[in-house]
Parts: sequence; structure tokens; C-alpha cells
Amino acid sequence: MNVSIEEQIRSKVREGYGAIASTEQGCCSGASCCGSSPEVARDLAVKLGYDPAILETLPEGTNLGLSCGNPQAIAELEAGETVLDLGSGAGFDVFLAAQAVGPSGRAIGVDMTSQMLSKARRNAVSFSQRTGLDNVEFRLGEIEHLPVADSSVDVVLSNCVINLSPDKSQVWRDVARVLKPGGRVAISDLALLRPLPSEAKELAEALVGCVAGASLVDDIRRDAEAAGLTDVSIKIKHEYVAVMENTGDSLYRDILVHLPDGHKLSDYIVSTDISGHMPCVGCDGDCDCDDEGLGHGPGGGDDVRLASEAPAWHQSSSCCGASEMGDVAAGKKCC
Ligand SMILES: C[S@@+](CC[C@H](N)C(=O)[O-])C[C@H]1O[C@@H](n2cnc3c(N)ncnc32)[C@H](O)[C@@H]1O
Repeated sequence: MNVSIEEQIRSKVREGYGAIASTEQGCCSGASCCGSSPEVARDLAVKLGYDPAILETLPEGTNLGLSCGNPQAIAELEAGETVLDLGSGAGFDVFLAAQAVGPSGRAIGVDMTSQMLSKARRNAVSFSQRTGLDNVEFRLGEIEHLPVADSSVDVVLSNCVINLSPDKSQVWRDVARVLKPGGRVAISDLALLRPLPSEAKELAEALVGCVAGASLVDDIRRDAEAAGLTDVSIKIKHEYVAVMENTGDSLYRDILVHLPDGHKLSDYIVSTDISGHMPCVGCDGDCDCDDEGLGHGPGGGDDVRLASEAPAWHQSSSCCGASEMGDVAAGKKCC
């Protein structure tokens, strides 16, 4: 994709979410990932598995109903961890993560839409007053070029954002750059089981919905693994799209019209829970690797698979050393 088309897509997404942040009205005028009333947003979050009691701790206007999954549920956050949320919107998952990692941890949100960022920063003030926590930060930036230092993050979260990026492989490369050795991803996003018919695809793109540029499941796995993540697991979930179908969400209703007769939306579009972790290469003590060099967290711990699936640069420069790769192939543990 050439740079100007990429920029056009980003501008359009920025414009759409800027309008949502300013008005809290949906860009496609329905209760959907495009924004919705507080009640609808809360109901959706509960259906996605968020604990209603924890939702009560959030400042008003934090949950805009823009999520399509629950990355917190697969993140297994621990006290003291540094968490980064890609496309943090008004701060929904950032505030939940901040409570999970506690005062010794840190939750950072990155979003490229300045109106969203302002909203999130205002919400951070009331979050601090409510909880006494001061471990939240929001940064303006693109998820393709994260304003975050190399190897500084334990967990990357994201909720319904990567599908909006015009350069998804670059997003995964930057995720790999910022993760510490042994760090992990816990990402919810929409994906395609098969390509949308062209009319439905154009409609989705035109409406800047959450589904705008969703990738095929296999392409997500390829991008994540090419970036260096291992133990990549992509769990397919049909509930979110079914909820959207049942609530008569206008974006999804319009896409449905363009599908071949007899096909359901969930034959094409699904939400996914994506987990994976960075190999324990170059861990200098400040990372989530145990004494044997195994990563923790979702999907972690299977270092034999990690070594055999690692990209070329890892195989030559890893903690295993070239001489040990034969041992790994023979079933012995790395490091
Ligand atoms: C569907 S909303 C999700 C917001 C939040 N994750 C939630 O669940 O409430 C998408 C968010 O990602 C941001 N976004 C989209 N593409 C982005 C990109 N390339 N870089 C940074 N932020 C992006 C938008 O500004 C918007 O706030």
C-alpha cells in the first residue's frame, strides 16, 4: 500500500473516532463498535465478559462501547507489570489494567486521535480521584510507530484496533520492539474467516466501523510470527458479531445485505482473542522469564516450540546458542 493511501486511511479513521470522542455518537449511527449510549456500552461490555462490579469503578464516559472483546480476560495481569494498550480510546482497558497491576505497575495508552486522548486524560483525573492510583498515562501516537521505548513493556493489550491499521505487519513489528523478552500480547480484534465480497468490504471501509480492514485469521498469525512472537494462539469467538447482528447494528445490518443468500455475518466476521509472547532472548533480569529462560503468561512456557519456531535472527543470536539448537530439536529445553 502506498504511503498516501495509508495516510488517507489513517485520516479517515482519525476523523471518525475524533467525532465519536467529541459527541459520543456513533459514526455509523447505531449501537455498535462505532460508539453507543452508556447503557448499551455497559451491556455490551458485560456480554464480552467484563465484571459489572469492576465496570462501576470506571469514570463516566470511559466505556464508549467501542470494544469487540475482553483482552483483560486473557492477559493474566500481575502486580507491578507495565501494560501498553494500543488504540486506547477513552481509556477503558487502561483504567482496568491500572487497577490490576496496582501502584507498582504502570498502564500506558496510545491513541492517534487527539480528541480521544484529551478525553482519556480528563478521565484519568477522575480515575485518580476515585481510586487513589497515579499509574496511568496516555500518549499521542500511531500504533505503527509507538511512542514507547524498546523492550520496556510486559504486556501489550488492544481491543478492536489493529484491524483499523493500514499497515498491520508494521504494528506487529513495533509490538515486538517494545515488548521485553518474555513479554506477551493479549489482544482482542475482529478478523475474517474468509474474504468479504467486494461490495460488503467497500461498505465496511466507508463506514469506518471496527471491521473496516479486518484481516484473515491466517494473515494475523503470519504477521505476529514474522515479527518474532511465539506460541501465537488465535481463539475464534462468535458471540460479539452475533450480539451486533441481534441488536440490529446498522453497520452490520448493511454488510449483511451484501452477503450471498443464506450466509450469516459470523460466517465471515468473528472476534478473536490473540495471545503470544516474545522469546526470552537477552533477558537481563527485568523480564518475565524464569531461570530456564521460559516466558510466562498466556501461551507461555513451551520453550521447545519457541525455539523451533523462532525467526532466523533468534536462532543465531538466542540464549540457546547455535550449538544447542540440535538439542532443542531433539526435545531438550532451550537455555
Ligand atoms: C474501535 S476504537 C477502540 C477504543 C478502545 N480500545 C476501546 O475498546 O474502547 C479504536 C481506537 O483506536 C484508535 N486508532 C485507530 N487506528 C489507530 C492507529 N493506527 N494508531 C493509533 N490509534 C489508532 C482510534 O483513534 C480509536 O480511539
